Amino acid sequence: MAKFVSLLVLVGLLFSAYALKNDGRSLSDVTCQSLVPAELSLNATFTYAPVVDLQWVGDDDQTVFAVTSGLTTDKGGLWRSKDGGATFNEWTEKLSVNSSETLKIMNVYAQKSNANNMLILGTGSYMWLSNDKGENFYPVQYPGGAKGAHIRDVRFNPRHDSWLLVHIKRASCRVHDKAHQDCPMDLVLFKDAFDRDGLSTGGMNLSATSNEKIAGFVDFDWGANICPNRSCAELPAIADELILATVYARAEDYDQPWDKDVNFVSSVDFFGSFNTRVPCGNQLEVVGRSVYLAVANSCPNSPDSRPLPNSRSGGITLFTSMDGGNTFLRACLPAALKQEGYELVETHDGRGALVIVDFSVDTGMAMPLYAASVYAAGPHHALFSLSLTNVYVGMMGSTTDFTRLEGLPGIYVANQVVPAPSSDGSAGSTTPTGEMPGPMGDGGYMDYYIDPYYDLSDVVGEPIIETRITYSAGGRWQRIRVYKDNITNLECMGMGMEPWYLHLNGMSPTNRFGLPLPGVYSNPSAPGLVLATGNVASLGLGLDQNSPGLCTWISRDGGVTWADVAVGPYIYEFADWGGVIVMAKYPGQNMYTPAGLADEVLFSVDYGRCWQRVHLSTPIYVDNISIEPDGQQPVVILHGVVPLDKEQKTNFTGAMYFLNVSAITSLPICKSEDQFEKWSPPTPSGTGNRCVLGQHLELTRRKHDVNCFYGKDYKRPGPIGGKKCNCTQQQDTECDYGFLRTNDSCVAIEKSNLPVCPVLDDRVYTVSENGRRIVHGDVCDLVNGITGNTDGKGKAKSSGRTSSRSGGWVAALVIVLVTIFLASGVYAWWRFRATEEQQETMREVAGSVAAKVASAWGFLVDKISSIRFRSRGQGGIVGEEMGYFQPLGDPGYDMEGHGNVFTLK
Ligand SMILES: *[C@@H]1O[C@H](CO)[C@@H](O)[C@H](O)[C@H]1NC(C)=O
Ligand SMILES: *[C@@H]1O[C@H](CO)[C@@H](O)[C@H](O)[C@H]1NC(C)=O
Ligand SMILES: *[C@@H]1O[C@H](CO)[C@@H](O)[C@H](O)[C@H]1NC(C)=O
Ligand SMILES: *[C@@H]1O[C@H](CO)[C@@H](O)[C@H](O)[C@H]1NC(C)=O
Ligand SMILES: *[C@@H]1O[C@H](CO)[C@@H](O)[C@H](O)[C@H]1NC(C)=O
Ligand SMILES: *[C@@H]1O[C@H](CO)[C@@H](O)[C@H](O)[C@H]1NC(C)=O
Ligand SMILES: *[C@@H]1O[C@H](CO)[C@@H](O)[C@H](O)[C@H]1NC(C)=O
Ligand SMILES: *[C@@H]1O[C@H](CO)[C@@H](O)[C@H](O)[C@H]1NC(C)=O
Repeated sequence: MAKFVSLLVLVGLLFSAYALKNDGRSLSDVTCQSLVPAELSLNATFTYAPVVDLQWVGDDDQTVFAVTSGLTTDKGGLWRSKDGGATFNEWTEKLSVNSSETLKIMNVYAQKSNANNMLILGTGSYMWLSNDKGENFYPVQYPGGAKGAHIRDVRFNPRHDSWLLVHIKRASCRVHDKAHQDCPMDLVLFKDAFDRDGLSTGGMNLSATSNEKIAGFVDFDWGANICPNRSCAELPAIADELILATVYARAEDYDQPWDKDVNFVSSVDFFGSFNTRVPCGNQLEVVGRSVYLAVANSCPNSPDSRPLPNSRSGGITLFTSMDGGNTFLRACLPAALKQEGYELVETHDGRGALVIVDFSVDTGMAMPLYAASVYAAGPHHALFSLSLTNVYVGMMGSTTDFTRLEGLPGIYVANQVVPAPSSDGSAGSTTPTGEMPGPMGDGGYMDYYIDPYYDLSDVVGEPIIETRITYSAGGRWQRIRVYKDNITNLECMGMGMEPWYLHLNGMSPTNRFGLPLPGVYSNPSAPGLVLATGNVASLGLGLDQNSPGLCTWISRDGGVTWADVAVGPYIYEFADWGGVIVMAKYPGQNMYTPAGLADEVLFSVDYGRCWQRVHLSTPIYVDNISIEPDGQQPVVILHGVVPLDKEQKTNFTGAMYFLNVSAITSLPICKSEDQFEKWSPPTPSGTGNRCVLGQHLELTRRKHDVNCFYGKDYKRPGPIGGKKCNCTQQQDTECDYGFLRTNDSCVAIEKSNLPVCPVLDDRVYTVSENGRRIVHGDVCDLVNGITGNTDGKGKAKSSGRTSSRSGGWVAALVIVLVTIFLASGVYAWWRFRATEEQQETMREVAGSVAAKVASAWGFLVDKISSIRFRSRGQGGIVGEEMGYFQPLGDPGYDMEGHGNVFTLK
């Protein structure tokens, strides 16, 4: 998969000098040898419209389909390559049907177990089937006269790659109908999605097989997605046929965004029969082997017989299941503000989750400010603790700047909105007074200092956006420090005084009319490598898309140290297991970035130290760099838009370039062991190796100065877990439920102010008295004291008290009541008042460091109570806001632009 990344182009003298020489030299003082023949110029394949999607079919990666789509017309096209992308033939004709519909392709699928079989979904009345890798296609009409544009989602069964579920709006619905009342969505099952006869029968309409018991499907998934390979020890057996869905019985029932008449059901016989598992369950999502379910607060009969939050104001309550969707528990999620949506991020091991809850704050401006809070799901997916708040969300709540780094566990990058420094030092990135709590040794205080909780609506003036990184699965966040000595390009240097911190673009534009710059990109095939665009800034300044110092950066050690690889933003992709990095100029435009046309593509075979330049015969605006799905061959396809041809000499507007680094450089495949090296992720300060989620990790990579390819048959070993480490508070813990992080401490919220949480009262889960629990997936050796009186996973250490329960924790949790208030206007979690007295007491009891923390906490409490009052004041408009709630949605194929909140995976 290709990614956006940005890189700055060399400016001024430097730039022209190098560009003129065009000798592949990098900007660093490493001497670089050109591996590219001087006269080489790539020729493009032109298409009538720009390429919007590339799909590789089969194990040999030789068959490639390019889907094109017109910018100004609806006309789409299909092109096919049989030589890995070197040459393409137009294939649009093969999809012609006797109809006046214009062709537009929604998606191309190849069967996993037999790549000869392909399915193309069009947006009109037809889909196309091929049993010979696309030599021939047979058109098949969508069932019931439906249109492809009405498909909201399609899912293949992970255990049967020909079982296809299609979630589709009825043909009788007009385009602008809401998904309500007269416009139910059906679920159609094809059990032979790649068989001509199987497909032609029109599939099985599950609304129809339910015998009129189901009028419409709201959401669905294959149960098998909870455990694709059938062997998950902690789960009950999950039938291949299991479908989880949320449905309603009569067409007119579904008329609210969160509707009490929608129920969560499961069926193992394709809805010949089904069980209603959770009344009022509206939307579901399978994440980390759990099922997350949003239950409407308007439910007259709460699923667990405990009261739901104030239903008058609408909203939802989150429930989770850890037994394949049979039983559900209320999740306890501390939610302080109006909730606008969710995103669920699987942890690296695929077993845990981070939940990103979007909210909006009224800043008194015309537009509300959108932001998000990140919560760690905890051991039972039921007790959520706050990991980071005020995460930047793009304009109109589009995307959240939160990225999971692939290939190394426990690392996430997020952008946080913080108040600009204020003169009294109470907010913003001002230097805090006092020393670093705890022995830090590894880096300056400011690297770790994160502002205490603050109320965004109280922020005066433009807030700033700062990048944070965590190496401990969200337990602790910090800034990214860069040193002057490590920056090569003058243009990329920070302005102002050191210390300098690196701020990286997420996928959201940071100003209203901005373009999203290439985001933070990593790939599981290349552990440790990260590319990103961003700028270096002193404290008090943050991310700035218009910064003259906007550069493209690389990290080779999983985000700890960074080097500038180019001035300006670039689009980038990894190939050959990370052994090849490819970049091309980002077409976007801002004040300082020379915008636009790329007349060369750059690649590096030494992890970004030297860049080789390959000339493109026709300059293009690059849209993307794409590679076959597993990213292993040193071959990529660059595609983009050809500048308008004023003389109309050609009607081509799209172009593809085939870059075969192997053919160009003739480098061999690495053969001997000594071409590889072992490495371990460094500590945040770059000195020594750190423990990664509680153990030493050893990874293998090709040496940077050895010119050879990993090759497509390479199997990267590991990462090999070595010696376990003793747990430390800084690297292995997060704040437990009922505690808030401020600076590097977890501060308890006054007990009397916490909501009732039977899961705690029943001692199914014990909150540690020191407010620490072990982060998800961490295997460190527990040393006394780190997590107080618990094992860091909610179990009290003093034996005897917890062990008396029978039936296992799942059964025990069923009785648990954990409350979550979503979009309800009721913020019980925050219903506490820290009086001056309490703060005084705390100052007395605790030491001097704790006193500072306590006063920060006092600050926090004040802010929170002011939120509460404000929210009461606006109770009346809650109904209007409900339209925004789109939680737990899938990226989907919603062709009509109804907003969904994306699930990051
Ligand atoms: C670029 O292509 C990759 C797949 O190769 C895709 O995941 C990504 O979204 C594309 N980026 C853009 C901006 O289209
Ligand atoms: C590109 O096209 C030109 C002119 O048709 C040809 O001379 C050249 O060899 C081609 N380059 C490549 C790399 O095929
Ligand atoms: C289109 O029409 C031609 C000639 O009438 C016929 O041979 C062909 O089978 C038709 N194709 C489809 C997909 O209906
Ligand atoms: C599925 O069945 C329902 C009820 O019988 C019907 O109204 C609907 O049109 C069918 N949908 C499709 C896509 O065939
Ligand atoms: C199946 O998947 C689970 C979790 O992904 C894993 O723990 C288990 O080892 C896998 N079993 C097999 C046989 O691959
Ligand atoms: C950064 O610079 C320091 C010297 O200031 C050097 O010791 C270190 O190796 C450099 N790090 C990288 C990643 O280049
Ligand atoms: C380009 O398209 C226009 C309008 O469709 C047509 O008149 C013209 O002949 C085309 N030019 C070429 C070179 O095909
Ligand atoms: C881990 O803790 C134990 C017990 O406190 C101690 O004996 C041991 O030396 C520690 N190990 C390391 C590597 O620090």
